[in-house]
Amino acid sequence: MAVIDLRSDTVTRPSQGMRAAMMAAPVGDDVYGEDPTVNRLEQMAAALTGTEAALFAASGTQSNLLGLLAQCGRGDEYIVGQQAHTYRYEGGGAAVLGSIQPQPLELHADGTFDLEQVRAAVKPDDVHFARSRLLALENTHNGRALPLEYLGQAHACAREHQLRFHLDGARLCNAAIHHQLSVGQLCQGFDSVSLCLSKGLGAPVGSLLCADQEVIAEARRWRKMLGGGMRQAGILAAAGIHALEHQLERLAEDHAHAADLARGLVELEELAVEYAESQTNMVFVTLPPEDAESLPRFLGERNIRIPSGKRVRLVTHLDIDAPAIQAVIAGFKAYYSRQNLSR
Ligand SMILES: Cc1ncc(COP(=O)(O)O)c(C=O)c1O
Repeated sequence: MAVIDLRSDTVTRPSQGMRAAMMAAPVGDDVYGEDPTVNRLEQMAAALTGTEAALFAASGTQSNLLGLLAQCGRGDEYIVGQQAHTYRYEGGGAAVLGSIQPQPLELHADGTFDLEQVRAAVKPDDVHFARSRLLALENTHNGRALPLEYLGQAHACAREHQLRFHLDGARLCNAAIHHQLSVGQLCQGFDSVSLCLSKGLGAPVGSLLCADQEVIAEARRWRKMLGGGMRQAGILAAAGIHALEHQLERLAEDHAHAADLARGLVELEELAVEYAESQTNMVFVTLPPEDAESLPRFLGERNIRIPSGKRVRLVTHLDIDAPAIQAVIAGFKAYYSRQNLSR
């Protein structure tokens, strides 16, 4: 029986079509700039985001890091969400490898900063302070698409303070589908955008840093230094091309499945279900503390994988269809009807 894995949209496996595209990919040495498939993917990503150029990177962590390293120097700082991936979950890479100081600020639940706090955090030009150099946003944040109005306001704030403007767009395509806008429209104003292929888009590997030629040339240098210059990487890039061509529009299905899941789980009074209007492919559920371990175990025995903990994130993706959603809802209901019988 197939496992229904709701832990993340990174768990998808390449389809037969994607594998065939990878097998057939023309390749060359990408460090020499000679891999035609990588070059094509980079051109596609630049066109998609409306930027001059793009660079294929091993992961979202790497493309975010390249964006920071290419635009900030030793003793600079970047302003970033306290809960943002670029600050919290990337091993402190910018500080460790670039001597770039993070200035984390609390994010609201919808992924937005209080822009007055951002303004207050920008340091004056004074020898006591790091130089405030860059503002980083994340779209989607915890599966929530950033409000369109806010994007313009954050851009104005960055410009007002001469900050570079970076977007961790690991799931930017989900945001575009949510707003029914093009990816390029959501990239307007940003100096650099990191776009992941290995989340909802369903490729096994890869992210792209998209920016102007100058930033990409600098990022290419850093990528080589980090050991990220790959050779016949077209095998991997082909999966990314396949994903962009065949698996972008279908993100709408993941969003519909997440909404169905939320609607089903909300019927259980034991659960507190968070599913905001701006939500895309994630549902957050707070469980009674006593169920934090036993519910995931119970579901696991039924081939349904969710994280353990009191507040769990359930993520829909390419390998989760409508019957799987119904099976998950039924699994939760079975657990609570059994619990209620024994109470
Ligand atoms: C918002 C966000 N940004 C960046 C990343 C990093 O991507 P990777 O795991 O490819 O390094 C992730 C990973 O899940 C993410 O959720």
